[in-house]
Amino acid sequence: MSKTNFAAGLEDVIAGTSGICFIDGKEGKLIYSGYSVEDLVKHDASFEEVVYLLHHQQLPTLEQLNAFKQALVEELSLSNNMIELMRSFVPHVSPMVALRSAVSLLQTEDRPVREMDQEDLRSIALRLVAKMPSLVAAIHRIREGQDVLQPDKKLSLAANFLYMLSGQVPEPLEEKTMNIALILHADHEFNASTFAARVTAATESDLYSAVTSAIGTLKGPLHGGANEAVMKLLFEIGDVDNVEAVIQRKLENKVKISGFGHRVYKTMDPRASILKRMSKEIGEKKGNTKWYELTEAVERVVFEKKGLYPNVDLYSASTYYVLGIKMDLFTPIFAVSRIGGWTAHILEQYANNRLIRPLSVYTGHQRREYVPPEQR
Ligand code: ACO
Repeated sequence: MSKTNFAAGLEDVIAGTSGICFIDGKEGKLIYSGYSVEDLVKHDASFEEVVYLLHHQQLPTLEQLNAFKQALVEELSLSNNMIELMRSFVPHVSPMVALRSAVSLLQTEDRPVREMDQEDLRSIALRLVAKMPSLVAAIHRIREGQDVLQPDKKLSLAANFLYMLSGQVPEPLEEKTMNIALILHADHEFNASTFAARVTAATESDLYSAVTSAIGTLKGPLHGGANEAVMKLLFEIGDVDNVEAVIQRKLENKVKISGFGHRVYKTMDPRASILKRMSKEIGEKKGNTKWYELTEAVERVVFEKKGLYPNVDLYSASTYYVLGIKMDLFTPIFAVSRIGGWTAHILEQYANNRLIRPLSVYTGHQRREYVPPEQR
């Protein structure tokens, strides 16, 4: 077989079929199972509703939505055993390492499941969606030396997440901002972490293993880690007056500017436009627009100098920061949302599975004879 159809980084390679999410990279459109993210946000859809959509490829009826929300809320709490286990490693590692390890440990508490049984798989998927915000909040509180909080069953997932982090029931605009951020990050076709999850699932490995692969993949600065890197860049720049010089220097040194560029979008990432609005709105509400203004200046300068558009990570950084969230939780928040997409893709992979096993172009030595160590 010919290996001439090689594409570095699998660029433009179609690696499977999926009914979950469509991206039009030229037009800058992101569509979940037929519904544009702009439309979902405009109609105040909840993150729970969007997860249902990703899992079922249908929006729920009111009854189905209420049952789904109820099932999620019932799964939010972490066991005391889990919290104790987390106390032993959370203070010593970064939040993403802690999250990856905690998700892996969650499996030790799961009841025995019927292999590849649809109902069991769906209930594990739901459990993972529910546990993610609780794990991230617990990681935060353990390392701050605070008690881990139980969820408030009356709150939405977005509000519960903010509540479990801070102990304060969020204001309506804070809840709305987090809900929108969760919706916007929930799925993105065959992005690196989702693809990693699908590769793992395609070996018929279990859901926890597939999600653990995904978290490890999300962690990198070229993917989910970029939102934290954006905030570090904003701190480095410090003031609007410094933007031009700092960006110029980085570009001259061939340093990638986090929060810009995308493999698929050749125009503005639609998520960035919505988050830009949210960053401004929450900044104004909190009386702190410094980070929004700084980000906007970075956006302008990077476009002028390099013609690059922002991606989802650019404005999520200032949005989360103004919400009072610590920088190193930005990427874990991505996981709180993307778990919706990961689990949908894993279920889809199981339902129509074939092992994912590509080829490589061999660039090593030609055939040679073995020489024993003493003769080398
Ligand atoms: N800053 C500066 N230059 C950039 C950037 C950037 N952020 N992104 C792309 N470029 C330039 C490259 O230097 C290259 O230019 P050249 O041809 O002159 O050498 C060209 O654009 C193509 O870049 P690649 O890195 O080959 O594009 P690729 O599709 O492989 O990478 C990626 C996409 C990883 C997102 C890249 O744009 C990047 O590193 N961005 C910064 C990190 C980031 O924000 N990641 C988050 C992505 S969104 C997400 O995962 C949630």
